[in-house]
Amino acid sequence: EKQSLQKTNQSFEEFLSTLPRDYGWTPLFDCYLYQGCWYYPFFLRGVIAAQQHFEAQPTDIFLCSVPKSGTTWLKALAFAIVTRKKYSDLSSHPLLSTMPHECIPFLEVDVVSKEHANQTAGVPLLATHIPYHSLPKSIISGGCKIVYIFRDPKDAFVSLWHFMIRLAPKDATYISLEAALELFCKGVSYYGPYWDHVLSFWKASKEAPQRVLLLVYEEMRKDPLPSVKNLADFIGHPFSVEEENEGALQKIVDFCSFENLSDLDVNKKGNYRPGNSAGIENSAFFRMGKIGDWRSHLTPEMAKQLDKITREKFGGTDLPS
Ligand code: A3P
Repeated sequence: EKQSLQKTNQSFEEFLSTLPRDYGWTPLFDCYLYQGCWYYPFFLRGVIAAQQHFEAQPTDIFLCSVPKSGTTWLKALAFAIVTRKKYSDLSSHPLLSTMPHECIPFLEVDVVSKEHANQTAGVPLLATHIPYHSLPKSIISGGCKIVYIFRDPKDAFVSLWHFMIRLAPKDATYISLEAALELFCKGVSYYGPYWDHVLSFWKASKEAPQRVLLLVYEEMRKDPLPSVKNLADFIGHPFSVEEENEGALQKIVDFCSFENLSDLDVNKKGNYRPGNSAGIENSAFFRMGKIGDWRSHLTPEMAKQLDKITREKFGGTDLPS
């Protein structure tokens, strides 16, 4: 068994060496272009395994996003929605002691074989950052529901820059904002190009709106109730009139708010993937949670540069540009 594992490792390394390669924003890893998307090797290995072996169940619900677009929030909300009957008493809720990422299996890391993790997790939710066009075929052919969250690329960029600095070893030279922007604009970023990722799900949502729901971070932050209600309906766990009258929807929105989750001990002091080179403190997933924090970091020229790409890429769509 050891030998076959080694063989797989070797062939993966060989395969990597055939792919376009660029700087991964951190001295820890380079990133590689596979099917139009930039991956770190750690994730790419899982993406390929998922493409080869993963068999989705039609009842699976996929929470999808490009990193730093609100994944943590979406996971918390979806998990709280589907488990709300079991944990009507919030004082024993798993999210009080488990960070949202650990409540939901991550396809390209936790669920890479035919061994289906959703039964063990007890909820039909899975998460992935894989762009739509590279998702394992069974997710599409199985008609699985897909929820996709995205946000203003300027805020996503600033969020990612901070995240990569948190991920870098303490003594490393951090990537400058300028260098990161240059890479981001040419598409080289964690699961980038950012815009192509969003477009892949946008197209899918136009083709199959009953199967693919888009959520906009800014809309949710300004007025979470309609989006969260919509999310619950879409994933087949609608709030009854009675529940709404009792404030169950508001309770979940408040419980999953940035203010509440970021203040929990588990999210302030815990660690995600400890011992792994991609491990990081849970607090790195709860930075500001603001709309427009880019204003504190980007010069007007930098913002213009990003907006120009957004207009070019999203022109002709109904995506915010
Ligand atoms: P900022 O870095 O702008 O603060 P992801 O979960 O995809 O990694 O995205 C992380 C971004 O979502 C971070 O943005 C983080 O602060 C924000 N975030 C995390 N939890 C949130 C929540 N419950 N509500 C709103 N935003 C949240």
